[in-house]
Parts: sequence; C-alpha cells; structure tokens
Amino acid sequence: MVKYEEKYRDEALQLTGKRSFDGTFTVKHRSHSNIALVKYWGKRNYQIPQNPSISFTLENSVTDTVIKYRFKKERWLSFDFYFEGTANEYFAGRIRKYLSVLQTYFPFLENLHLTISSTNSFPHSSGIASSASAMSALALCICSIEKKLFGTLRDEKKFLTKASFMARLGSGSAARSVFPGFVLWGESTAVKGSSDEIAIPLPVEINDTFSDIRDAILITSAGKKKISSSAGHGLMQNHPFAQARYLQANENIITLMSALTTGDKDMFTHIIENEALTLHSLMMSSNPGFTLLNERTWKIIDEIRNFREKTGKFVAFTLDAGPNVHLLYPGRDKTAIKEFIEQKVVGLCENERWIDDGIKP
Ligand code: PMV
Repeated sequence: MVKYEEKYRDEALQLTGKRSFDGTFTVKHRSHSNIALVKYWGKRNYQIPQNPSISFTLENSVTDTVIKYRFKKERWLSFDFYFEGTANEYFAGRIRKYLSVLQTYFPFLENLHLTISSTNSFPHSSGIASSASAMSALALCICSIEKKLFGTLRDEKKFLTKASFMARLGSGSAARSVFPGFVLWGESTAVKGSSDEIAIPLPVEINDTFSDIRDAILITSAGKKKISSSAGHGLMQNHPFAQARYLQANENIITLMSALTTGDKDMFTHIIENEALTLHSLMMSSNPGFTLLNERTWKIIDEIRNFREKTGKFVAFTLDAGPNVHLLYPGRDKTAIKEFIEQKVVGLCENERWIDDGIKP
C-alpha cells in the first residue's frame, strides 16, 4: 500500500532551491463543500480518521480562492489573507498554522510572498461548514503553484491525490472536497486503494436513484458552533462507545455502498439517518457532553418522517456538526419537495432561510 506521507516527504526534497523569478503569478481554484453520509467523528495521530467516511460533493456551496505569488529572498512564511475582499485576522491565524504544516511538503513556500483571497458562494455564517471547501481550495492552489514552478503534477490523478492529502491536513472533511460525486475517505477493507491519508472517488457504479440526489439545507440556526469540530473529535478519545462506533461506521460503509449500487432507498435512508443521529448521540454522551440540535431541528425531522410516511416518497435527512437539517431527495421530485418545504418547513427555518443544493456530478 502507498504510504503517502513518506512519498510526499521524499518529493519535498526535490522542491527546494528554486531560483528567483521576477513578476507576480496567479493560481486559482474553486472547491465545493460536501455532506457526509457515513460520518467521520474521531481522529488519531495527525488528521488520521478513526473510521472511513462517505460523502457527496455539493454543487452550489463553493469557495473560490485566488493566490498571487512572487519571489522574495528572505526565507520565512509571508502572506496576506482577504476574505470576501477584507483582511481577516481570525482566518489568517488558521491559515498561518496550516501553511506552516504545508511547508514540510512544499519547502519553496518560504521563498514566496502569497496574497490569498477567498470568497464563499454561501452566505457567511449560514451554518454551512466552510472549512471543507476552504481548505481544499487552498490545497489545490498550493499544488498548482508547485506544478507551475517545478513542472510536476501534470498527471491529473496525481495532482488531485496530492491535493486531497494536503487538504486533509487542514480539515479532515476537506480531503473529500477535492473530488466530485460520491467520495470515500479512510481505509475500508471493502475498497481497494482506499486510504486514511487521502480520499478517492467512490469506486462503485451509482444507481440512477441516487445519481442526481439533491440537498435542501434547512437553516435552523446560523450562529457560530458552540464547540469546534476539533474539540468534538478530541472527545472521542475517551468515549465509552468509541470502539463500537468505529466498528459500526465500517459496516455502514459496506452497506451504504451496496445500497448506492442496487438503488435500495430504504437501506440508504436507514443508514444515513442513523449515522446523523449517532453523530449527535456521540456528542451528547461524551465527557463533557454537548448538544448542537435545537427544537426546530427535531420538528423538521418529524415533518420529514411524516411526509415520507404519507406520500411514500424518497426523502431522507442527515445532519452535520450543527443544528441545520440536510433534506436529501431525488432530482425528479424537486417540485413536490419545494412545495413540501414551503408548506411545512420554511416556517421552522431561521429567517425562512434554506439553500437549494445538490450533488456535483
Ligand atoms: O473536517 P472536520 O474536522 O471539520 O470534521 C468534520 C466532521 C463532520 O462534518 C461532523 C463529519 C464529516 O465526515 O464531515
């Protein structure tokens, strides 16, 4: 099995000693957020997941990042960061930490001054986790700088694999955002080529039932999270249910892959709703425990279940590390689901806000 850490450390030895160059150059990437169906919750060592996860990448929730870079003689990390056109100290702190980790793999960074500008398509604090798209856009940009300076990474697959590895170092779920469609991150005995270090496109034939799956993101609260996901992952370390959870997630990967190929929507629904509620049960039962869901989250879940029972339509929910509900449904039911949202759900959303998204093919 490939050990990517070793591989990229070896490659780094070749990525030094770049002679000075004149002028300022630009790289840019758009990266898409993703929603996990089998959740990553708990990590070990440096950003290694305790269990594999499967997500799909979202079409409309994106981060656009542009990096302008120029050569400088002094050898230290130097950059400016602008979020939505304004210098942002808080994000700059996170980026500094991230870039200092990346320096191990991209030693040429110390001879560059970077001007990084990012914008999100989704409103700031809309409750959508932006770290996946943000970190993956940054990782893709840095890999592009390597490619331009050294003529490496010309092979698309190699480029994306390295970007996924690097994105993971910024935020675990960002490793999956490098790829469209359904994506697997983490080693699974059922999937050859799967790895804890990188994500890969899910190597199964996706049944038509799921190929145009949509995600209505129902915002029940856009406030800042009470606890960071890093702190949440940390609480899995001494969690009494940790081992059972990791075993369950591994089994759910296999069952979900089978549902995705056969088109078994009942199995799909059972797995993903159980995954969402398990994630939040783990949060509630950790020490200290915490709750991210609110009354409106539960009411929306009830409405979704009632609608499914009444109409027999394929609708399922999942949750991220927050109180907003992701309502999943097939593209052909778009009109019926919009009607359902307008009649039963939008009144439960904060400022009647929801985001109309779907899988990025
Ligand atoms: O990538 P992180 O460290 O923000 O963790 C993401 C955790 C979940 O969103 C709850 C689950 C997942 O697999 O995306």
